[in-house]
Amino acid sequence: MAMNVRFVARDGTIRTVVAVPGDRLLDAAQADGQPLEGTCEGQLACATCHVIVDPDDFARLPPASEDEEDMLDLAPGATRTSRLACQIRLDEALDGLTVQIP
Ligand code: FES
Repeated sequence: MAMNVRFVARDGTIRTVVAVPGDRLLDAAQADGQPLEGTCEGQLACATCHVIVDPDDFARLPPASEDEEDMLDLAPGATRTSRLACQIRLDEALDGLTVQIP
């Protein structure tokens, strides 16, 4: 079964994309051509996969690990609902997840 993820661009444009449960949010974003570099390929070493999660959706995500929190401290423009897209594993319970690309 597929699910939807919504990407909000800097200019406020919203794009809804179909994602595959089991993929990382970073994979779904890159498959759609979103400007998320993900330079370290998910090794928690770059923070170029930083996204800002819609506050209404934030509680649906499993909490960030300490290593992720440490990387987020280095992410420019990080907010209280920031996450690293390489650490978010999509599943159907996250259908409709909305994240802003900073
Ligand atoms: Fe580098 Fe996510 S891809 S921290």
